[in-house]
Amino acid sequence: MKIILGVGGGIAAYKSAELARMLMQQGHQVQAVMTAAAEEFVRPLTFAALTGRKVLTNLFAIESAIEHISVAQEHELLAIAPATADLIAKMAHGLADDFLTTLCLAFTGPVVVAPAMNVNMWQHAATQANLETLRKRGYRMVEPGRGYLACGMTGPGRLAEPEEIVAAIESEARKRHDLEGETVLITAGPTQEPLDPVRFLTNRSSGKMGYALAEAAAARGAKVVLVSGPVHLTPPRGVEVIPVRTAEEMRAKVMENLGPAHIVIKAAAVADFHLSKVPEQKVKKTAARISLELDPTPDILAELGRKKDDRLLIGFAAETQNLVQEARRKLESKNCDMVVGNLVGGADVGFESDQNEVILVLRTGETIPLARASKREIADRIFDQVLKLRLALSAANGR
Ligand code: PMT
Repeated sequence: MKIILGVGGGIAAYKSAELARMLMQQGHQVQAVMTAAAEEFVRPLTFAALTGRKVLTNLFAIESAIEHISVAQEHELLAIAPATADLIAKMAHGLADDFLTTLCLAFTGPVVVAPAMNVNMWQHAATQANLETLRKRGYRMVEPGRGYLACGMTGPGRLAEPEEIVAAIESEARKRHDLEGETVLITAGPTQEPLDPVRFLTNRSSGKMGYALAEAAAARGAKVVLVSGPVHLTPPRGVEVIPVRTAEEMRAKVMENLGPAHIVIKAAAVADFHLSKVPEQKVKKTAARISLELDPTPDILAELGRKKDDRLLIGFAAETQNLVQEARRKLESKNCDMVVGNLVGGADVGFESDQNEVILVLRTGETIPLARASKREIADRIFDQVLKLRLALSAANGR
């Protein structure tokens, strides 16, 4: 594969030389592009010797004034390692004041970003906001490691190991087309069940898991329809978002869009109960206690299980205990092909968190744990397993 390796001006630039060597060893063609700051840490000659190609640096000291366009067009993947806070900010805001940042704007293929910086810079709100912008654009992040940093501090901010960056590059390149032609129907977020014109029942779902699944599917070439409860998230690029509020509205839109779907993933936290008859006027506060007569909402997943046909149906299980058993029970009772079990109520996974840690329970009987990672990474791994599962089920059915 033809890879552009963008090198930012951080002390971790020395590790990019090892990354370049490993990519060459895997048979890839590597074009190094360095920022002026990067040249302060590592000489271009190092990369020229490792890649066998002239290193591109300054936008205005090259043969043709449009070389950044031809370089962008000739290569299949752009990897930035290390991605400094400055580079990440420029990429997020579309600044193009040197060869590498100009190239980032001109490049239309998959982008892998491996950040590296001081822990305080990493945790700064500006950096985190810029990273979120890049994630929403479908850039693949290789999260920095934790540990001792060149500045003497310890914490997150170390450039990921070259092996991990190589794996992400190869995974990203492989994945770009493996959902092409697929229509994926996803639900995300909470539902809101009115108690009167002013009040409603809801839950803590932020929609991040479902939106990460939608983003991952779109980035891999799928047509994505996202039926979403009320959330505060930017719709992922290239995804059709259908907003709903109540479980009944969600059910209606899911069934309306079920026909063309090949894969259905129910990540939404649908309320289990609602008021069947909502008062037309606001309930006035009285001294007396009030009690609510709640009825079950439609079980959308169970209904999908009854209408599955040859679609792949993936449910979620949000549990506080007995995760695998509960996920397996839901898989069987709702005729799912896979249930993604995640513990909720714990620290920094599940509801609202940017990370998740799940156990996949499959119709084949397998149970596959996915270690804690960003919801976008978890989403990609879920689709990896969904595609493998479909092959296994087809083989089992002799198709
Ligand atoms: O949105 P985030 O903040 O990122 O949090 C992610 C999440 C924790 C919400 C998500 O990972 C998750 O676990 N979603 C499922 C939450 C849920 O409703 O779990 P459950 O075990 O109560 O429901 C089981 C399955 O049935 C789910 O697929 C759910 O979508 C579906 N269901 C539930 C009730 C109902 N009336 N209809 C349904 O289809």
